[in-house]
Amino acid sequence: MMLRRFSWLSLALACIGTLSGATCNTGGPNPFPPNERPILGNIDPTVFQKDFMWGASVSAHQCEGNDDHADWAHWISPVPTSAGVPAGQAADHYNRFAQDLDLLKAINLNTYRFSVSWARLYPHPDMAEPDPDAVAHYDAVLAACKARGIRPMLTLHHFVMPDWLTEQDRWGDGRAIDDFKKLTRFAADRWGKDVDYWITVNEPEVFAFHGWLRAVFPPGKTDFALALRVLANLMKAHAEAYHIIKESDTIDADGDGQASMVGIAHLVVPVVPYTPWNPFEQFVATAVGAFTNSFWFVADRTGIIDLRLPFGPELIEDFPLFRGTHDFIGINYYSRQIIRIDPLLGVVVDQYPNSVRSSLGIEVYPQGLYDSMQFMSQFGLPLLITENGIADSDDSLRPAYIKSHLAEISRFMRDRPDVSVKGYIHWALMDNFEWEHGFGPRFGLYAVDYATQQRTARPSALLFSEIIAAINAATSDAGN
Ligand code: BGC
Repeated sequence: MMLRRFSWLSLALACIGTLSGATCNTGGPNPFPPNERPILGNIDPTVFQKDFMWGASVSAHQCEGNDDHADWAHWISPVPTSAGVPAGQAADHYNRFAQDLDLLKAINLNTYRFSVSWARLYPHPDMAEPDPDAVAHYDAVLAACKARGIRPMLTLHHFVMPDWLTEQDRWGDGRAIDDFKKLTRFAADRWGKDVDYWITVNEPEVFAFHGWLRAVFPPGKTDFALALRVLANLMKAHAEAYHIIKESDTIDADGDGQASMVGIAHLVVPVVPYTPWNPFEQFVATAVGAFTNSFWFVADRTGIIDLRLPFGPELIEDFPLFRGTHDFIGINYYSRQIIRIDPLLGVVVDQYPNSVRSSLGIEVYPQGLYDSMQFMSQFGLPLLITENGIADSDDSLRPAYIKSHLAEISRFMRDRPDVSVKGYIHWALMDNFEWEHGFGPRFGLYAVDYATQQRTARPSALLFSEIIAAINAATSDAGN
């Protein structure tokens, strides 16, 4: 049984977003009408609009290789459970991006979510202009997307920073806000003609708490108050970036009538009590959920940065520039979190004994995606699934994982036609470097043999491709 001792600290440390009050699927009749395309199972194809984004994601440091000026390139997490290896050559995506985009296209995907390497673009402090070779590289990536009719979705900050920035801890004291503005201004000016979907920051709370509280990410600190300060600085950086992109990117690259759509990729995790009728467990789940799942988007409404946990330090600050700085909510969904109160251990994060789990021990819980979408819909913004995937090296779980999560999305879209759902981006296109866990966990639709860099489609990739084809066929039959 996977059991983690709970503390308020560990909550923030684990940085698992929480969502309380999630409903439980009690089974019952199949909510979908019988499907003529059996491969779809419970996926209702009629809810997906023709321009639905079907994609796969990568991030620069996890797959490009030789990202030598990145803080992660030299970082070995001191935490005992970590794999302790640098990314090195990773999946050599820097050199193989064109072939990898072919692979993406080959399985019927139309969207490629990727991040630029901040460290390649600005390897040294005080550079007025970014490195021309790095710029030329991302020019080529975007040209390759265009040539293949693939929509790029560009993430500006996916966990990794230039090493000089980390060494000076510029997120801690806020100087990184200006650094990020510089990166954003350049990217929006240069690539606005190619990119319409922008993700400023990936999972800001994971970045802040893993780096400044749990010490499993650079800079490896354990200072709760500083972690909150970093989070507030990320919120400020996001708001500044939002306005820069809206001002600079006025070109509608994909012809859908919108030049720029800007948001973040937010980790959303439903938090539920182990025993639904236990009021104490319910209380903890609710309190935790109130903070981590919603603080970012509450601030979008109020313009107030309000980082208050029931215990520990707190940070409250007016920041009106943050108000209204999201055109969509990017949901990264992997699983739920179950809170149990143990007579001996106190509050623990637990799992049910018979649950199905990934190779990282994470429960497979498709209904949590439906619950997450319901929860996030309260903010009245379009939703976009920016990540969803599973560590599963032999692909024994991924086919059912994909199918069941898509069924939950279609169930949500049927129940909530008032909410715009823009797309589903699977994590990941191919196996890659999984941070403190190294290369063990395999998240790819394509398997990578790191010795030869050979890519092989997993059965789940082919299934995903067939599902998309069946949905496309059904939507064109229906004239969606
Ligand atoms: C992160 C990815 C990571 C994935 C799988 C997400 O939280 O954005 O970088 O590889 O989870 O753990």
